[in-house]
Amino acid sequence: MDDRGYVLVTGGAGYVGSHTNRLLIERGHRTVVFDNLLYGHAESVPKGSELVKGELEDAALLEQVFQRYPIRAVMHFASYTFVGESVTNPARYYGDNLVGALSLLAAMRRHDTRHIIFSSSAAVYGRPAKVPIEESSTLLPINPYGRTKHIIEMMLEDYGHAYDLRSVALRYFNAAGAHPSGEIGEDHEPETHLIPNALHVLVGRRDKLSIFGDDYATPDGTCIRDYIHVSDLASAHLLALEHLQKGGASEQFNVGLGRGFSVKEVANAVERVTGRKLAMEIGPRRAGDPDALVADSTKLQTKLGWKPERTDIETIVADAWRFHARRFG
Ligand code: UFG
Repeated sequence: MDDRGYVLVTGGAGYVGSHTNRLLIERGHRTVVFDNLLYGHAESVPKGSELVKGELEDAALLEQVFQRYPIRAVMHFASYTFVGESVTNPARYYGDNLVGALSLLAAMRRHDTRHIIFSSSAAVYGRPAKVPIEESSTLLPINPYGRTKHIIEMMLEDYGHAYDLRSVALRYFNAAGAHPSGEIGEDHEPETHLIPNALHVLVGRRDKLSIFGDDYATPDGTCIRDYIHVSDLASAHLLALEHLQKGGASEQFNVGLGRGFSVKEVANAVERVTGRKLAMEIGPRRAGDPDALVADSTKLQTKLGWKPERTDIETIVADAWRFHARRFG
C-alpha cells in the first residue's frame, strides 16, 4: 500500500493487465487504467480503479491523465501481441507499439514519473541456443513482435541512463490460466493461444484443436512451452513495483516456471481436468515456432523473492476452464 498517487496501468483491461490491476487494487494501490478497449473489456476493470479509454499515441489525452492523477509508477501492458500479425502487418508493431511507448515515456518525463514495469516477452530470445533460458542469453528475436519488445527494452535502458528512469522488464513466457474466481480470464478475438483454443473446442466455438506440427525435436514431436499462471505473473509485477519503490536498480527478469509441457501434454491435461474428449488433429507447423521455450527464473526468485503458487498444469487449465465455461459455456 502506498497512498502517494496512482499506478498507471496501460492495457489494464486486457488479459495480464486486468489480473495485475485487480491485485494492485486488492493490495490497496490506487490505479488508473488506460486502454483502447480494442481487445480489453471495461467489465474487467474493478470498481475502485479509474478507466480512461484512449490511444497512447494521443499525447494530449495522456497529458490530461498525468495532470489529473499524480502518477507515481507505470505498468505498461498495452501492446499488440500477435506474433503472426506482426509478420504480415509490421507497421502496426513498429508503429503503434513503439510510438505508444515513446509517447508514454515522454509523458513520464514531463511529469517526473520515474518507475516503469514493462511487459516484455520470451520472444526477445528468438530461437535460444539452450534451455532453460537465462536472462543473459543472446537476444535475437525472429519476428517484429519480439523485435519491438527488444527495442523497447533498449529504450528503457537508454532512458534510464540519460533521464534517471528506473525500469523492470518482465519477459513473460506463456501466460495462461485465469483468476481463480472465474470472473476474468483470457478473452480476445482473434484467439491464437493453445489453452483457450482447446477450451473453445469444448464450448463449441471451434470444431477441433489443430496441433501445429508433430515433427519438432522434442520427445513427442510437439513444441514445448513454459506455461505460467496469470496470477503468478501478476504477483511478479507487484514485486517489481516494490523493488523500484525501494530504490532497486533497473532489471530484466524471466517470468516462467522452469518446466515445459508439450502441446500434446497440454491437450491431455485439458481432457483430464474437464473430463471431456478433445477433438484434435495434427496440422502443419506454424511459421516461426521454436521447438522449446523454458525459462530459468532463478533471478526473479532470488532477487525479488517471487514464489509462484498456481504451478501445476492441472490448476492452470482448471482456472482457465472455470472462466471459459462461465463466459462461453
Ligand atoms: N499451438 C497449437 N495449436 C493452437 C495454438 C497453439 O498447436 O491452436 C501450439 C503452438 O504451435 C505452440 C504452442 O501451442 O507450439 C503454444 O502456442 P501459443 O500460441 O499458445 O503461444 P506461443 O508460444 O506461440 O506464444 C507465446 C506468447 C507470445 C510470445 C511467444 C514467444 O503468447 O506473446 O510465446 O515465442 F511472443
